[in-house]
This record gives sequence, structure tokens and C-alpha cells, in this order.
Amino acid sequence: MRNIYLLGFAGCGKSTLGKRIAAQLGYQFLDLDALFEQRYGDISDFFAKEGEMAFRRIETDLLHETATNINTLISTGGGTPCYGDNMKYINDNGFSVYLYLPAKVLADRLKNSHKQRPLLRGQCDLLQYIKQTLPIREMYYRQATLIVSVLDIHTDRVVEQIKQMIV
Ligand code: S3P
Repeated sequence: MRNIYLLGFAGCGKSTLGKRIAAQLGYQFLDLDALFEQRYGDISDFFAKEGEMAFRRIETDLLHETATNINTLISTGGGTPCYGDNMKYINDNGFSVYLYLPAKVLADRLKNSHKQRPLLRGQCDLLQYIKQTLPIREMYYRQATLIVSVLDIHTDRVVEQIKQMIV
């Protein structure tokens, strides 16, 4: 079976939902941010020391490694599809699913999140930042094979929609 790539803004639930969806589909689960941290350490520290572009280069390399995976659901980082040819690479190598949430919901979730996110750390108005950034990122996210609004929707429904996509 072809891989499935989960896309979406930070806070949309790629990792949490991804684990559940993968388990229900009988897929392996791979989290690109976790893979990055296994190899290079904390993402925030890496951003501070090496800069964002160095992070993006490695993120793309890690994405390319997924070509050797099979039956795997891959949770990408929020920026992964939006750099270089990554979105094209994703769609050439599997199905892609954009987990949509509105900016306000993302902001509320991110305010309560414990995960360190270097791009969000310095933002004094988180909602404003998301409102500015989401439309730009959606130019990529909306190229996904499937777009699912994950507002008020049970995981089972998301899984059903993905199953219909992969048959
Ligand atoms: C990023 C999102 C993060 C992580 C990195 C950059 C982004 O992943 O890849 O901090 O550019 O939005 P999550 O979407 O899992 O938070």
C-alpha cells in the first residue's frame, strides 16, 4: 500500500490523530519531527544554533527517506509541504491528507500546548500570526489528495474517509 502523509498547521493534531488513524488502518506510524529529534536533538535548539534553512534542508532529506517505507502513515511537520518541491514529492509518493482547523481553534490549542515550536515562540499575537501564515501554507496543504476538517469530527469518520481514498 502507498504511504499516507498527514499535513496541516502546527496544532491540528497530526501526531495525536496520526497515531490513532495509523493503528486503525494497520499502518506503521512515522513522525518526521520525532525522527528529526532522534537524529539531531531538540528542534528549538537546532533552530537557535543552525537556523531555519538548515532545518528545512534536513527535513526535506528525511521526507525523501520515506520513499523506502511501505504501509506507513507519516506525520509531517507543519512547514514540510511548503518548502522546495516537498508537496509534489509527497503527492508523487503517496496519498496526502490535510487536517484542517480554523485559525482561532489552532491558536487556542497552541496556547495550551507543551510542545516547543521555535516559529511560534516569539509571537506576541498568536492568532494574528496564524491568520497571516495559514493562507500562505494552505496554498500547499490544499493540494492534498483529501482535505478533512477535523473540527468536531470523530477519528472513526476521518478513518472512513481515508479508507475510501485508498481503495
Ligand atoms: C514547524 C512545525 C513543527 C516543526 C518545526 C517547524 C512549522 O511541527 O516541524 O517546529 O514550520 O510550522 P508541528 O507542525 O508538528 O508542530
